[in-house]
Amino acid sequence: MAENFDLIVIGSGPGGYVCAIRAAQLGLKTAIVEKDASFGGTCLNVGCIPSKALLHASELFEEAGGKFAAMGIGIGAPALDLAAMMRFKDEGVEGNVKGVAFLLKKNKIEAFRGVGRILAPGRVEVKGADGATQTVEARNIVIATGSDVAKLKDVAIDESRIVSSTGALALPQVPERLLVVGAGVIGLELGSVWRRLGAQVIVVEFLDRIMPGVDLEVANQFQRILQRQGMRFKLGSKVTAIDASESRLKVSIEPVAGGAAEIIEADVALIAIGRVPHTEGLGLEAVGVARDERGRILTDAHFATSVPGIYAIGDVIAGPMLAHKAEDEGVAVAEILAGRAGHVNYDVIPNVIYTYPELASVGRSEDELKAEGIAYKVGKFPFSANGRAKVNRQTEGFVKILADAATDRVLGVHILGPDAGNMIAEAAVAMEFGASSEDIARTCHAHPTLSEAVKEAALAVEKRAIHV
Ligand code: FAD
Ligand code: NAI
Repeated sequence: MAENFDLIVIGSGPGGYVCAIRAAQLGLKTAIVEKDASFGGTCLNVGCIPSKALLHASELFEEAGGKFAAMGIGIGAPALDLAAMMRFKDEGVEGNVKGVAFLLKKNKIEAFRGVGRILAPGRVEVKGADGATQTVEARNIVIATGSDVAKLKDVAIDESRIVSSTGALALPQVPERLLVVGAGVIGLELGSVWRRLGAQVIVVEFLDRIMPGVDLEVANQFQRILQRQGMRFKLGSKVTAIDASESRLKVSIEPVAGGAAEIIEADVALIAIGRVPHTEGLGLEAVGVARDERGRILTDAHFATSVPGIYAIGDVIAGPMLAHKAEDEGVAVAEILAGRAGHVNYDVIPNVIYTYPELASVGRSEDELKAEGIAYKVGKFPFSANGRAKVNRQTEGFVKILADAATDRVLGVHILGPDAGNMIAEAAVAMEFGASSEDIARTCHAHPTLSEAVKEAALAVEKRAIHV
């Protein structure tokens, strides 16, 4: 017999579970469908959370091996217990995943375990692991089914030697040589993890730069820092084949511009060339939900698909594939369905790469402003001139603020430096309030903090930074 709800959310990642909680808070009788064994989606199980656990642990491992002695902490060479580090990560994941289960229960959201398929507007079939099906009915459906790893043509991922991010988060031993395909965020974060733990890391990137989408000046300096740390890059290159027939992988690489191919040997290859929307088995064609040329579900500004009563959010629709973007969309669509005014400001979505140093940005890059023909002013301030960074010996990187030449409104903030991911929140709040660079410059920042570099960069917009 069908059960009746106000809302069914398909997928319990950061988009789906947050949407369900907000809907329940607003009084909607809400159900959630999840095909995997645990709630939390890519982010909590095989994405944000486990990768950050390994980034944290491996950063401390490297610091203990290199920087402790200079601070007068003598511990000898640190020993790696990789199995224990993996347990640290797994326990962190478990804690977060259980937290989501608790929140769903607390908000009286009914969870259905199994693969969801839309039979018609208002009707979802859930097929459990045992093959049994049941039908759930609701006034509205929100699709939050996330994304999957993009595959490299003719290269089969086995998650043991040729891995996606999922396999790279669980390698049983440190590879002597790791070859990463794609100098995007996964390649650089997980490449950093394994380099810190002892692997030689070489990153092959199709474009002639790393981190497409990030301000070019910032990306170039980031690349130089990563190279100094020992990461190697082969830009303008493509992997054409991986031969896994022998004990070491033989990776064929060709220059994109043409020229001689070369073979690089590696123990593990990480394929990190992007992610694709996950819509398999959802029954979208049958109900007529339209998608774009990249397979993303098409929505209007209110997350409505081409079929009335069916909405979509998160990685499965256009926009940056980020957990906080999915969460904000989840809240917005729940509010819209409850008759309120839900909204996401896509101009102010922070983006953080959790390497060392971190790279965080919000708003437009200099390249984007040039392309759009917007006149802008630039203020920059290096961490080498920030007292706290100097005393902590964390002086690499800088803050860059881009402000409208006529109005001084902040258009973009880019931070390459220690703790940049936390500091970018100040810039996001300022931009959300329509701040000028002068507003940031006139705001009192505590001393001695890294955040003073943000204030100094704002002062530098009018060429009046104090400490340079
Ligand atoms: P997902 O989290 O992918 O969740 C979708 C859920 O839907 C899954 O649980 C899936 O099992 C379920 N599902 C799919 N189809 C069905 C179906 N038919 N029936 C039932 N259930 C279904 N983002 C950040 O912002 N910060 C980070 O630090 C970060 N790190 C990342 C690291 C890695 C290694 C990866 C891979 C991603 C990372 N991301 C990060 C991206 C982030 O994980 C995604 O943007 C986010 O998870 C998208 O949320 P979502 O709810 O749209 O989808
Ligand atoms: P990405 O889009 O960040 O980077 C992919 C890179 O691979 C690009 O530089 C691209 O030019 C390159 N590439 C594409 N095809 C190639 C080929 N054939 N050969 C060589 N290079 C090729 O994708 P990535 O790193 O896989 O991450 C997927 C998504 O996950 C991202 O969109 C990101 O938003 C999200 N994510 C976010 C994190 C964060 O916020 N800290 C961490 C990890 C993932």
